[in-house]
Amino acid sequence: MNSRRRFLKSAITGIAGSALLPQLGYAKSEHSEAMESLISKDNSEAYWEMVKNQFPFADGLHYFNNGSLGPSPIAVRAATNEYRKILDEFPSKYMWGGWNNEKETVRKQVAALLKTSEEEIAIIHNTTEGMNLIARSFELKPGDEIILADHEHTSGTIPWQVWQETKGIKLVKPILPIVPVSVDEIVSVYKKAITPKTKIISMCHIVNTNGMTLPVKEVSELAHSKGILVAVDGAQAAGMLDIDLHDMQCDFYTASSHKWLFSPKGVGIFYARKESQHYLKPLIVCNGHTDKTIRRLENYNTRNLPEVLGLGAALDFNQHVGSRKIELRTMELKNYFRSKFEGNPKYKLKTPASDQLSGAIQTLEVVGKDVNEVKEKLFDQYGIDTRPMSSFGLNSLRISLGIYNTKKDIDYLAKAISSIA
Ligand SMILES: Cc1ncc(COP(=O)(O)O)c(C=O)c1O
Repeated sequence: MNSRRRFLKSAITGIAGSALLPQLGYAKSEHSEAMESLISKDNSEAYWEMVKNQFPFADGLHYFNNGSLGPSPIAVRAATNEYRKILDEFPSKYMWGGWNNEKETVRKQVAALLKTSEEEIAIIHNTTEGMNLIARSFELKPGDEIILADHEHTSGTIPWQVWQETKGIKLVKPILPIVPVSVDEIVSVYKKAITPKTKIISMCHIVNTNGMTLPVKEVSELAHSKGILVAVDGAQAAGMLDIDLHDMQCDFYTASSHKWLFSPKGVGIFYARKESQHYLKPLIVCNGHTDKTIRRLENYNTRNLPEVLGLGAALDFNQHVGSRKIELRTMELKNYFRSKFEGNPKYKLKTPASDQLSGAIQTLEVVGKDVNEVKEKLFDQYGIDTRPMSSFGLNSLRISLGIYNTKKDIDYLAKAISSIA
């Protein structure tokens, strides 16, 4: 029965279209079997090949660039398309409240992923919005200091420059080691940058330059002992690592779910712990801006609801594989990748090795070669997409290892790099 006939039928029977809603998360009938088979203790390459099959790419493309943008698995694409179709078939019914319960379910799913409460989660568009929301909220005074280390993404630095610098605040930019050997080495950089005037530390969970993981928990403990707030850009971590935000203790955490959570594009998540929510002001003000809950931060009137609900499907996917299993696989792929190059003088790995200090983003210099040339050759001759990184003297390929990349894919990548080297 097509949707129109289904709607008319349900309207006649008095359930006002509720029967039209697809199972939240993914179009169940078509994809449930593939989704159910993801729930498994199996960690064999055959299992991960099955995961890979959920991510069809363009013919001939070997994708190692998830740090730029993630793909969505088939079930997420299908669910989002289904939501778009339903919305287009009866726009006014769904946009302004018709999908409230479904949106709230997505909020709960995000909260479950990050091990926090749904009253601490807002659904936004991307990390850039989240970082703007934080920087725009504060009434800072001349002389107040914000710490932003040198590896911060422009999404986190520009908002402080534009919204706050004119007020005479000072942006303190400590220099992080490129390949730190311990958490303490990084914490001491932040420790030295703190002064009695420090108000906020804004930091990445994983930096986008060389993929190193920053010790958010340790920095938050240090900051809170001095009355300083901590804002975290989790764009490169949410979905890759198994995150417990209450344990991490930061005040704010924001991420784009279109990277490592594989959601539809243009959806982001925002966390503010209960005690710190009063600092925040909505970036966009409209009906609902006086709401007493965190929902006041996400009222835009008309918005990208199919993508928001598609995030629910992406969270289903994540949950079916398991966030702990994803983190463990990430580390397994990283170690396999590194083992291909470690100790060979033709290469320099420019990302710290330990699981505490890096995950699925690794940087590799082919000694004596310009990274842009290596990148182009990899793409033109082998169909391999990576991101070249020149900042901080890296001259390195930034290689992202998504859960859809298998060890066989890494063999192919390593062989291609080796022939170029
Ligand atoms: C660390 C980091 N922060 C923020 C962003 C910006 O993400 P978006 O464009 O989704 O806001 C990126 C994108 O690559 C990133 O790597």
